[in-house]
Amino acid sequence: MSYILDGKRIVMGTCYYPEHWPERLWREDLRRMKETGIEVIRIAEFAWNKTEPREGEFTFDFFDRFLDLCEEEGMKVIFSTPTATPPVWLTEKYPETLNATVEGVLYRHGMRRHYNYNSPVYRGFSRRITGKLGEHYAPHPAIVGWQLDNELNCETDWFYSEADTAAFRVFLREKYGTVEALNEAWGTVFWNQDYTSFEEVYVPRRTVPGSTNPHQMLDYVRFVSQSARSFAREQAEILRRYLKPGDFITTNGLFGHLDNVELTRESLDFMTYDSYPNFAYTMNADFSDPRDLRDRKWSRNLTETRAVSPVFGIMEQQSGANGWNVSMEAPTPRPGQLTLWTMQSVAHGADYVSYFRWRTATMGTEIYWHGILDYSGRENRRLREVGEVAEKFKKLQPAAGARYRAEVAILEDYDNVWDAEIDVWHARVDKASRDALFAASQRTHTPVDHLYLDHAVPADLMKYKVLFYPHAAILTPERVKLLSDYAEAGGILVFACRTGYKDARGQCVTEKLPGLAAELSGADVTEYSFIGPDAEKVFVNWDGARFEAAVFADLLDALPGAEIEGRYEGEYFSGEGALVSCAAGRGRVYSYGSAFTEEAAGIFFEKLGVRDPYRDRLALPGEVELAVREKDGKEFAFLLNYAKTPQKVEFLRPAQDLFTGEALFGELTFPPFGVIAAEI
Ligand code: GAL
Repeated sequence: MSYILDGKRIVMGTCYYPEHWPERLWREDLRRMKETGIEVIRIAEFAWNKTEPREGEFTFDFFDRFLDLCEEEGMKVIFSTPTATPPVWLTEKYPETLNATVEGVLYRHGMRRHYNYNSPVYRGFSRRITGKLGEHYAPHPAIVGWQLDNELNCETDWFYSEADTAAFRVFLREKYGTVEALNEAWGTVFWNQDYTSFEEVYVPRRTVPGSTNPHQMLDYVRFVSQSARSFAREQAEILRRYLKPGDFITTNGLFGHLDNVELTRESLDFMTYDSYPNFAYTMNADFSDPRDLRDRKWSRNLTETRAVSPVFGIMEQQSGANGWNVSMEAPTPRPGQLTLWTMQSVAHGADYVSYFRWRTATMGTEIYWHGILDYSGRENRRLREVGEVAEKFKKLQPAAGARYRAEVAILEDYDNVWDAEIDVWHARVDKASRDALFAASQRTHTPVDHLYLDHAVPADLMKYKVLFYPHAAILTPERVKLLSDYAEAGGILVFACRTGYKDARGQCVTEKLPGLAAELSGADVTEYSFIGPDAEKVFVNWDGARFEAAVFADLLDALPGAEIEGRYEGEYFSGEGALVSCAAGRGRVYSYGSAFTEEAAGIFFEKLGVRDPYRDRLALPGEVELAVREKDGKEFAFLLNYAKTPQKVEFLRPAQDLFTGEALFGELTFPPFGVIAAEI
């Protein structure tokens, strides 16, 4: 059990930069934090020069002094490896450690994350500084855990240095063995792209604008993920030699081109996330669409974090306005919004919330990325609100360690996540359906989880009544086996259009569609098309429920044993099958021929018996999010009002308010940005 996720308390932290402030402020800052209820600070993630100011010269005084003070003041510390910001003495002498643009131009000193994961020289420096820090600081009693680097793959998740090409060749040799096999996998016969040796292969370079070989791109993204993971794993393995019992290793994410599930499994104790819902309020945000979920969309990122670590931490939680000197202008969170966003994190499974940052930086790129305090450090409204949140955390103690409860999961796998990034046909349906399923889950109060199939075992799937696997273009026999085991055992599985038309290389299959899913789904795609921009509206009629088909239409027939449950109305698709279902053991598999709209998703939830599972206990308006965490048979409901207006909610059965201890029953109004936490 780690200090910050001990299953007994919700713990508050902040990010502190002792190197940004005169030493005389340290003690006072730590005391004020403690008075506010902050128990943990994350430090040192960009401070390489404070321990290795010149190549091979190590000095530990600075953080020794700071850590000793933390110990005196009873502050716990998460210490970080500093590799997100290599020193200039390093990058000037060893430019091969730098990342590059796709044209091969090196990213120079002056920002951050300008290194590449694959330079043997950088790896050497990374190992050495990690070892030195671990050896010297890990025994310190103030330290409770470690953060690896900072936001792996943030700022850029594209790597084009020479070191990356060299490592990509090794990756491909291991994967394919021969250049002939690589040619086959990448379909290089198309446009005469065949390679005669691995030495001719590079990370994707500038091509004539349009497209780089898509199969190469897919392998390249897999390679980037593997590079980041192996960089992190190396640091984790070194640190584990020095860790005190109970101390943890984490990193803060989540970013692209990275298999965070595998990263966590092999290197971390749990994942932490950096949550900045204020991005929804940047000055150029478009507020014309009232259906836009804005800051509620961060609930989707938190759902994603939960797919990696069921109970997790927030390493950086928004506490002020955001902005860089060059980008992003956003207002200060309104009174109550900081609390709302904090509780949004807790509602989704965070037992540790650390605010970014204690005091706003007075220099550098982030002078507008406000912390709890402004430049002067004077007492302010945000600090008072953080103090109130700390009091609320105490009241939430019974919910610590509780698991988010969902009967529905939306399946993902990294092949398809990355293919949808590279392939616009895939992207269009994928985005439509994932946005719609999320919006429907929010507004119908149907909690959902995300679940990665890459590393799942049958028991992971069996937790859910219904699984949506919307547009798995790429299918593999292993994943189909998992899915059919789930259905056989009584699960309900929903596929949607474009399922199974590619193999793991990203090449299209020649079997009848939906390819590997044909047998399990009983569906037969006889024809398919985008619903074009000039098309009339196309509807689906499912037993009297009529809803709009979105983006794409697979025209479906039923194979023997399956039946057509819904048909298209509109265009030349009229009368064709839009929804096929097929019994599979004790379960059932649905194939929906289109992409989801929010309305369609809501109808699927209803018809499959999972919509609004708390409807007999709570009557809630769409503006209010419902999340429920469960522990030892107790259910803790979080109601979150994102609206600027008061909302009416109704407790249909007696419940207990965790913050006040009072009984809740019947109708009540709660204020803008209000949060109710109740045992129901
Ligand atoms: C995060 C990062 C922090 C800080 C913050 C505000 O992505 O980890 O170091 O930069 O954003 O920009």
